Amino acid sequence: MVKNNVTGEIKVLLSNDRIQARIRELGREITQNYRGKDLVLIGVLKGAFVFLSDLARVIDLPLQIDFLGLSSYGDSTVTSGVVKIIHDLTRPIEGKDVLVVEDIVDTGLTLSYLIKNFMTRHPRSVNICTLLYKPSNTIKTVPLKYVGFEIEDEFVIGYGLDLAEKYRNLPYIGYIEDQR
Ligand code: IMP
Ligand code: MG
Repeated sequence: MVKNNVTGEIKVLLSNDRIQARIRELGREITQNYRGKDLVLIGVLKGAFVFLSDLARVIDLPLQIDFLGLSSYGDSTVTSGVVKIIHDLTRPIEGKDVLVVEDIVDTGLTLSYLIKNFMTRHPRSVNICTLLYKPSNTIKTVPLKYVGFEIEDEFVIGYGLDLAEKYRNLPYIGYIEDQR
């Protein structure tokens, strides 16, 4: 266990081995479902960068990768409900089969905004693949085609996820005891 000098101790929720095993399953499913399609993975920055890089390497198809920078949180552990595009896609998605790759769906506000925005760009299809899903906090329901793990209402960090921009580089998903 790692000692965190700001708050409590970091506990492991999902080990890297468990994460990788689940990502291989998702990769197999996505490979089957997107054969013959014009797949573009769109990672939501910054949190999804680790998940996307592992997921992309277990999808056995030609695909494109793009990123969208969104900000829905300040340096806080509660949602503001305010979503801003801070870095847009580099290519049009018209006619493409878009798979949005997200680290975590909490209230659903971020993705519901994003999906509405994407629909105006006329992709052929849009689906969502999220590593983590916290069903207890849903405000906006968005259809999640691929979910890595459903988790309890705990603020999690690591494997791309941050607390005030730190801990994204932890190889596992953890939570800080006594954080909330
Ligand atoms: P939503 O709009 O409430 O669904 O929030 C989604 C975004 O909030 C995610 O993409 C994360 O960036 C961030 N977020 C939500 N829950 C957590 C958490 O437990 N740890 C770190 N970031 C989180
Ligand atoms: Mg995010």
